[in-house]
Amino acid sequence: MGARPFGTDINTSESEGPVVQGNLGDIFRMLQKRLFAPLPYWHWIKQAEDHRLDENNRIVSESVQEFIRLARDRMNNSPALFDQPSNLLEAMIAARDENESIFLDSELAGNIVTLLLAGENTTAHSLAWFIYLAHQSPDVLLRIREEVDRIIGKDAVSTRHEQLGELDFIEACINESMRLRPSAPLVGVEANHDTVVADVAIPKGTMILLLTRVGALKEMHFANPCAFRPDRWMTSVSESIHRKACMPFGAGPRLCPGRFLAIEEMKMVITILVKNFDISALDTPDGKSVQKRLTFTMAPVGLQLKLRRR
Ligand code: HEM
Repeated sequence: MGARPFGTDINTSESEGPVVQGNLGDIFRMLQKRLFAPLPYWHWIKQAEDHRLDENNRIVSESVQEFIRLARDRMNNSPALFDQPSNLLEAMIAARDENESIFLDSELAGNIVTLLLAGENTTAHSLAWFIYLAHQSPDVLLRIREEVDRIIGKDAVSTRHEQLGELDFIEACINESMRLRPSAPLVGVEANHDTVVADVAIPKGTMILLLTRVGALKEMHFANPCAFRPDRWMTSVSESIHRKACMPFGAGPRLCPGRFLAIEEMKMVITILVKNFDISALDTPDGKSVQKRLTFTMAPVGLQLKLRRR
């Protein structure tokens, strides 16, 4: 992906060997497994995959330390970056290195791991689902292309940030694909005090996993709920009082802080894709319809895309 929030191009698409992305995938799988384990057995006995998890955590942590080291070197060579950071990591380092900062190095590293875990797979899977769903509807693809050609013009990529804000139909398609295939369909919450939700008593301290996709697929909230109909997001908010039933970025005080970045990133990739390529094939290895796999995030399994230059 072109955006480099940490100033280092991880280049996951062209790397031959293992990259941090693969380690994150494994970490997610174990996160899911441990979340649903009846007992935290790994505190007493570790299986092979638990040792692999430790190894993956070590690799990610070393990679993050390396991102920080490279960024600090860049900033020390160009001190103006402390006042005008050129990416998210530099901004965090500038805050960390300020006099009297109460922000620790370990917190800096922890925040980067959080951003990698929270922002990478979620956005990539949402994009994959978007492409899959849009490709099922030729008329939607045509409208997406018409919008990109109209707003981006002759350029191969969007050249002004404001252009992304004008991509209303693409934004509606993103909302609709995230309604049908949210990449983060589980949200964990804990009751701060005794409460009652829909006639169910919830004692303080209870952990709850919210299934955010259920309400988004109810006829009472969205007519013909299983259909991919981006136009339902083109109406004014007052016409659609049920939009809050769809919460792919969560809700409340812990609402995803990366949601605007994620949508901008998706719009950038979609415009580059549509402007420069035709999708010549979109398939799975066995030719069957694409399956969902939940490993904390929900990914399409084995989706393959062939592109032809436009
Ligand atoms: C399409 C992409 C994304 C989806 C679907 C997504 C979804 C979510 C969801 C459902 C939550 C939990 C919200 C809640 O508890 O109510 C969350 C939290 C979070 N997300 Fe995202 N996210 C995405 C992209 C990103 C990006 C790009 C970043 C940052 C670079 C990010 C950073 C975070 C962080 C730090 C949290 C934890 C917030 C907290 O606990 O206070 N997310 N996200």
